[in-house]
Amino acid sequence: MKTTKNEAPPLSGLSDYARDARKGALAPFSNFKVGAALLTVDGEIITGCNVESATYGLTLCAERIAVFKAVSEGFKKFAAIAVVADSHVVTPPCGACRQVLWELCGDIWVHTADLKGHKKTVRLSKLLPEPFDKRFL
Ligand code: THU
Repeated sequence: MKTTKNEAPPLSGLSDYARDARKGALAPFSNFKVGAALLTVDGEIITGCNVESATYGLTLCAERIAVFKAVSEGFKKFAAIAVVADSHVVTPPCGACRQVLWELCGDIWVHTADLKGHKKTVRLSKLLPEPFDKRFL
């Protein structure tokens, strides 16, 4: 995938993987199913979906499941993530996911889409300006 600093690449193909991953979501408490697909710089795709806990607080978002899966499988460099949910406006990653994505993936493209085909692509740094990370430790 060729990307320039400011021009978002076409990520609807990646979004299809996220849409498919969403089918695996375990969301009996919120009924809000989310799928994510993370693209490595080498073109590999690792997916995730949200998995909820009855404690609520132990629930994990689709994005973090995808990135933790990817890192645990040895992938280190990432280009983009697609996130798909069935909402009235496209769903951006939550704050916790933004932080984890920043630390493990860097300034990747974040492509969000709903089931009706509405979509938006921004750099992660736009969603998480002035992040805290290892540079401060
Ligand atoms: N959720 C995600 O998986 N990703 C997001 O970007 C936002 C929220 C999940 C967590 C929870 O299972 C449900 O959506 C409602 O918050």
